Amino acid sequence: MSFNDDVNKQQNQQQNRQIKLASRPHGAPTADNFELATGEIPKPNQSEMLLRTIYLSLDPYMRGRMSDAASYADPLQIGDVMLGGTVAQVVESNIDNFAVGDLVVSNSGWQDYSVSDGIGVLKLDKNMANPSYGLGVLGMPGFTGYMGLTDIGKPKKGETLVVAAATGPVGATVGQVGNKLGLRTIGVAGGAEKCAYAVEELGFDVCLDHKADDFAEQLAAACPDGIDIYYENVGGKVFDGVLPLLNAHARIPVCGLVSQYNATELPDGKDRLGVLMGNILSKRLTIKGFIIFEEYGDHFPEFLATMSKWLESGDVKTKEHQVDGLAQAPQAFFDMLDGKNFGKTVVKVADVK
Ligand SMILES: NC(=O)c1ccc[n+]([C@@H]2O[C@H](COP(=O)([O-])OP(=O)(O)OC[C@H]3O[C@@H](n4cnc5c(N)ncnc54)[C@H](OP(=O)(O)O)[C@@H]3O)[C@@H](O)[C@H]2O)c1
Repeated sequence: MSFNDDVNKQQNQQQNRQIKLASRPHGAPTADNFELATGEIPKPNQSEMLLRTIYLSLDPYMRGRMSDAASYADPLQIGDVMLGGTVAQVVESNIDNFAVGDLVVSNSGWQDYSVSDGIGVLKLDKNMANPSYGLGVLGMPGFTGYMGLTDIGKPKKGETLVVAAATGPVGATVGQVGNKLGLRTIGVAGGAEKCAYAVEELGFDVCLDHKADDFAEQLAAACPDGIDIYYENVGGKVFDGVLPLLNAHARIPVCGLVSQYNATELPDGKDRLGVLMGNILSKRLTIKGFIIFEEYGDHFPEFLATMSKWLESGDVKTKEHQVDGLAQAPQAFFDMLDGKNFGKTVVKVADVK
C-alpha cells in the first residue's frame, strides 16, 4: 500500500494524522523519508489552545531541517513531526486573546491538530478573503523578499536587479517591490510559461529561463549596464552567470541556495573560491546572508500593513500552487524543490468551519 493510500484511508477518522521524518534524505528526498502516524487529538492544558490545520505551507528550508548537517537551526530528529507554517482554526481555547473559530498563522507542522501556548501565533483578520496568503505574500516568504531587498539590497532608482525563482513567493515579491522602487528588474525562472507570467503579470522588465544552454549570454545581453543588486535565491548556474556582470559596490542579499539543497557533493569543475574572493575585493561587493525572523522580526507589522495595501490595490499580485489533502504534502514538497510548482506552494488540509 502506498503512503498516499495509507493517509487517505485514515483521513475521515477523528484522529490526528501526522507526517513524520522517517529517515534523512541522501540527495533529493523521497517518500521513504516520511511516515504517517495516526494518534489521538491532543488536549490543551489550562494555558493552551487546540488548533486544527486548514492550510500547510511548504517551503525550501524544510529540506535543510531534514538533514543533520550544521546549520542556523537544529535539525529535526527522526520521528519528529515535519515542521511547517500553517493557517489554523482555534477549536478550543484557554487563552484570553484567542477565541474558538479564530483563524491564526501558527507553526503547527504537517498534521491535522496541534496545541499551542499562543506564543508566536498571529491572529488573522476574520474577513480576510484568502487566509492562505498569510503563508505567502503576506507571510514569511513575502516578508523575506521585502526586507532582503530593501534593507540589504539598498535599492536606488534606475539600478538593475536580478532575482531567480522569480515566480515563487520570495522572488515575485522582490521583483514587484523592485518595480515599485524604480529598478530595472530581471527575473530568472524555469521555463517559458513562468517567464511569460513574470513579465506579463508581475511586471518584470525581462525574464530569462535558467535552463537555456546560453543562459549566461542571455543574462549579459539583458544587463547592458551590469548588475547592482543580485537577490540570491538559488546559487549554482544562475550565480555563475551573475558574478562577471556585477558592478562595483553591488549588493547581494543571500536569502537561499535552493539549487544546492539536494546536493551530495561539491559541483564539478575547478574551485572558484579564488575568483569569488577576487570579485568581492576588486568590486567591493556587499554579500550578506540573513534569516528573516532572526534579523527582522520587529519589522513584520510594518511589512504587513504596507504589503496588505499593495495587494488590495492590485499593485502587487500573487499566485498560489495549491494542492488538496495532507496526503499530497510529500509529493508537493518534492515538486517545489524541483521547480514543478507555479507560485506559492500551499496544501489545503481542511475546510474552515
Ligand atoms: N533567508 C530566509 O530567511 C529565507 C526565508 C524564506 C525563503 N528563503 C529562500 O528563498 C528562496 C526562494 O524560496 P521560495 O519559498 O520563494 O521558493 P519557491 O520559488 O516557491 O520554490 C523554489 C524554486 O526554486 C527554483 N529552483 C529549484 N532548483 C533550481 C535550480 N537548480 N536553479 C534555479 N532555480 C531553481 C524553482 O523555480 P524555477 O522553476 O523558476 O527555477 C522552484 O520553484 C529559497 O532558496 C528559500 O530557501 C530564505
